[in-house]
Amino acid sequence: MSPTHKNLIVVLDFGSQTTQLIARRVREANVYCEIHPFNISLERLKAMAPKGIILSGGPSSVYDKDAPRVEKGLFELGIPILGICYGMQLTSYLLGGKVERSDHREYGHAKLIIDEPDEIFHGLSTGEPGHQVWMSHGDRIERLPEGFKALAHSKSSPFAAMANRELPIYGVQFHPEVVHTEIGMDCLSNFIFRVSRCEPDWTMENFVEVTTREISERVGEGKVICALSGGVDSTVTALLIHRAIGKRLTCVFVNNGLLRKNEPETVLNFLKQFDLNVRYVDAEDRFLEKLKGVEDPEKKRKIIGNEFIKVFEEEAGKIGKVDFLAQGTLYPDVIESVSFKGPSATIKSHHNVGGLPEVMKLDLIEPLRELFKDEVRKVAKELGMPYELINRHPFPGPGLAIRILGEVTKERLEILREADAIVIEEMKASDWYWKVWQSFAVLLPIKTVGVMGDERTYDHVVALRVVDSQDAMTADWTKLPYELMGRISNRIINEVKGVNRVCYDISSKPPATIEWE
Ligand code: XMP
Repeated sequence: MSPTHKNLIVVLDFGSQTTQLIARRVREANVYCEIHPFNISLERLKAMAPKGIILSGGPSSVYDKDAPRVEKGLFELGIPILGICYGMQLTSYLLGGKVERSDHREYGHAKLIIDEPDEIFHGLSTGEPGHQVWMSHGDRIERLPEGFKALAHSKSSPFAAMANRELPIYGVQFHPEVVHTEIGMDCLSNFIFRVSRCEPDWTMENFVEVTTREISERVGEGKVICALSGGVDSTVTALLIHRAIGKRLTCVFVNNGLLRKNEPETVLNFLKQFDLNVRYVDAEDRFLEKLKGVEDPEKKRKIIGNEFIKVFEEEAGKIGKVDFLAQGTLYPDVIESVSFKGPSATIKSHHNVGGLPEVMKLDLIEPLRELFKDEVRKVAKELGMPYELINRHPFPGPGLAIRILGEVTKERLEILREADAIVIEEMKASDWYWKVWQSFAVLLPIKTVGVMGDERTYDHVVALRVVDSQDAMTADWTKLPYELMGRISNRIINEVKGVNRVCYDISSKPPATIEWE
């Protein structure tokens, strides 16, 4: 993949929580960046021909028995290197400096005083009053390796930045990738452009052009099939491929009966303008039949996943010979890495188009494999998707089935659909929709007593789930204004027949999850 990128920065991952952030920051500077494990072979690394290498931070101490290390040869490749935190300590250690073991962590904001002007600090003032940076380290450097110069200090780090300009190798003890480091983007840009001499050629406009060309070369006269959910990933995948090969792409849109109110119509309507080849399959009855009497969340997920594969296969069979299966896989799913493989995958079996590749035995086309989610959104914009669709909240593959606790029936789906539509409508009307990660309604498997007019009621309970999150790995419940909660509750109880009570979910993830099943 990589040699296609003339301007490449490689991040070697030592297990930091913020490794992914480093790559995103580099890309924000319009330079392509890939993450690889710290123990990648020097041969592979050389073959990629990166213009610069960044060594990430990590939780280890260089003195740990199993501390992740790199071969010393890395420092002799003549490729500019920037070590961040653990990356800097490891560089020092391997090149003969002294790293002091410390049980005391320096964590949080610190003031960095630049003592020595240098390329990496180009444009930044030296001396007092200093710059706000973010530190998170235990060990610290006590003596620099030979040939290195100290560039900056902080209260508890005598060597907060170092350089050997000839090699050139740099190290910073603080984290330039996090927003709390005000000069972070300056330092990274200086490393990328001034030290590594990259050209800023990674733009989404460029990406669309290059990817379209690559797809059309790869597919040739072949045919591609793609499962379309209306979500931003699958839609962008389809639009890119369509741009490359037109009608030789067939998209299959399966209505599993578990979608939100008006969802199939909205998606199909939007797609009309692109002249896509879309096969719409109304499979509601099939899915509901299979879900009859099923209450277990994992069983529901499996049934929906399997049925989806069956429906998709049948549709594929109807269009004759197909050569490729397109998928909207994103970069975070393919990074070979020692960090961020979150536990969520094993907590719930995730259904997107998971089982398809094995069953279909087709070559895969994954045009978004190199992109982060925010980049996909930029591509979506580039391709003409409206803001509303690009920024829709995530919606799980098994749809409303995992937001109906207990059995999924047509009647219960109808109740949830109406309640959910009110949630979305009010969230949008108040502009809160765009500020939160997700907001939706959940139908609980209980009934409670209420009173309406002079009548006793015995009806369903809806839970309102609204969360803030960066990446769905952790989440916190959103402190919505009471007034908005009240309005949503009133409307649901008054307008949705069969509901007489609304609750607000105030659990964070972990220990709860975002979805209820
Ligand atoms: P949880 O409930 O595990 O959800 O905290 C994390 C994020 O993933 C979404 N989610 C899914 N997305 N297929 C998907 O495409 C699934 O099977 C699935 N299950 C959960 C959920 O909406 C949240 O954004």
